[in-house]
Amino acid sequence: MNAPFHASRAGSLRDPFQAFVTDEETAEMLRPIAVEHGWSPEKVNKGGLRNAVQTLSVAASPSILFVDLSESGDPLNDINALAEVCEPGTVVIAAGQVNDVRLYRDLVASGIQDYLLKPFSPDQLRDAFANAQMTISGPRLVENGNEKPNVMAAIIGVRGGVGASTIATSLAWLMGDKAGRSTALLDLDVHFGTGALALDLEPGRGLTDAIENPSRIDGLFIERAMVRANDKLCVLSAEAPINQSMLTDGSAFYQLQEEIRHAFEGTVIDLPRSMMVHYPHLLNDAHVVIVVSEFTLAGTRDAIRILSWLKANAPQARVIVVANRVQAAVQEVSRKDFEHSIERKVDVCLPFDAKTAAQAAKLGQPLAKVTKSAKLSQPLNQLLTLTVEHGAAESDDKAKPTAGGSLLGKLGSFKSLVGKKPKEASAAA
Ligand SMILES: Nc1ncnc2c1ncn2[C@@H]1O[C@H](COP(=O)(O)OP(=O)(O)OP(=O)(O)O)[C@@H](O)[C@H]1O
Ligand SMILES: [Mg+2]
Repeated sequence: MNAPFHASRAGSLRDPFQAFVTDEETAEMLRPIAVEHGWSPEKVNKGGLRNAVQTLSVAASPSILFVDLSESGDPLNDINALAEVCEPGTVVIAAGQVNDVRLYRDLVASGIQDYLLKPFSPDQLRDAFANAQMTISGPRLVENGNEKPNVMAAIIGVRGGVGASTIATSLAWLMGDKAGRSTALLDLDVHFGTGALALDLEPGRGLTDAIENPSRIDGLFIERAMVRANDKLCVLSAEAPINQSMLTDGSAFYQLQEEIRHAFEGTVIDLPRSMMVHYPHLLNDAHVVIVVSEFTLAGTRDAIRILSWLKANAPQARVIVVANRVQAAVQEVSRKDFEHSIERKVDVCLPFDAKTAAQAAKLGQPLAKVTKSAKLSQPLNQLLTLTVEHGAAESDDKAKPTAGGSLLGKLGSFKSLVGKKPKEASAAA
C-alpha cells in the first residue's frame, strides 16, 4: 500500500493542505497552525477518516493530508480505503487515540508519514508538518553534499548560428566535469533548442510543461523534469511544437531560474536574442553574461547593440565577449576593428574547426569533450575559469558596470567601421 501515497511526489495544482478531524478541539488547534503555514483554515473539515475518503473520492487530493482516525474501528483497513482514493504524492499525517506500536508500524508501512497520538501538542503538529513539507520538496540536489553558491551564466549569440548553443553546452559540461559543480543547462530556445540534441538526449516534456503550468514549478518539479546527462550535468530543453507560440508572461522562466539556482551550483542559460528582448528580467540575476559573436559586420553591429543593452538591463552581470568560428585568413572584420567598435577586448577567441564541430554533433557530445586540440580546449577552459571566477566575485560585488562609452558613441564607432568596405576593414588589422 506504499505506492498510492509515495508513487510520485508531484505537488501540482492540488491544494497544499486539507484536514479531516473528529473533534472541535483538534480543529481549533489545527486552524492557527494552518494559517502559520499559509494554508486556509477552512481546509480543516469535520468528519475524520470517513469524510476524507468520501471527499477525496470525488476531489483532488491535497499535498498534505491530516486525517483523524479516532472514530475508525479498524484504522489500518480504513487507511487502505483512503489510499484507494488518494492521488499519488499526498503526504498523509494521521492522528488517533490508539497507543499501539504495531498499529503505528503498520500505518507507516502502508504509506502514512506520521501518526500523532492524541492528545498531541501544537509543536508536535508543527514538527509533523515540517517533516511533511521536507518530504514534498524532496532532497534538493544542493543539499546532497553540494554547497557552492550558484553561478548563473547566460549565453547570448549576437546573431543566429554564431555558435552560442555549442558554447553553452560545452561550458555547462566543463562546469560539471572540470569545475566539479552540479550544473543545469537551461535551453530557452524552446522551439528549436539543441541543448538535449547536442548531448544525445531526449528533451522530454519538462520545459513545455513548465511553460504551460508555471504553478507546478518547484524543487521537486525540477528534479523530475531535468534530464540527466551525467553525474554533474542536467538539461532542461524542449522541442515545442512549432504551431504553438509559447509566448507567455515569462513567469515560468523566472521560476525555473529560481528553482535551478537553489538546486544546482551552476546554471548555464542558452538565451536566444528574442527571449532576451521579450523577457529582459531573465538577466536580472545572471552573474555572468557571455556574448558570442563572429568577426562579421553584422556581428559587430549587434554585439555593440547587445553590449549596450546589457549595460542598461543587466548592470550587475559581468560580461564576457567570445569570438567564435574565427578564421584568421577569412574574416570580414579584423579582431582589432571588432574590439575598437565594441570598445572593449574580446575575452575568449575560439577558432573555426568544422571537423571537431561535426564530430561533436555526430557523437552527441560537447565540443569541449570531443576536441583533442588545445586550440579549442584552451579557450573553452579559459571561458570556464572566467565564468566561475566572475560568478563567484559577482556575489560579493553587486554593482560594477562594464567598460564605458555611450550607445551613441558605440554606434558612432560602428559607423566608422561599416563606412569601410569589408576588405578595408580586415586589411586594417
Ligand atoms: N568553433 C566552431 N567551429 C566550427 N563550427 C562551429 C564552431 N562553433 C559552432 N560551430 C557550428 O556552428 C553551427 C551553429 O552552432 P550553434 O547551433 O551552436 O549556433 P547558435 O548560435 O546557437 O545558433 P542559433 O542561432 O540557431 O541558436 C553548428 O553547426 C556548430 O556545430
Ligand atoms: Mg542556439
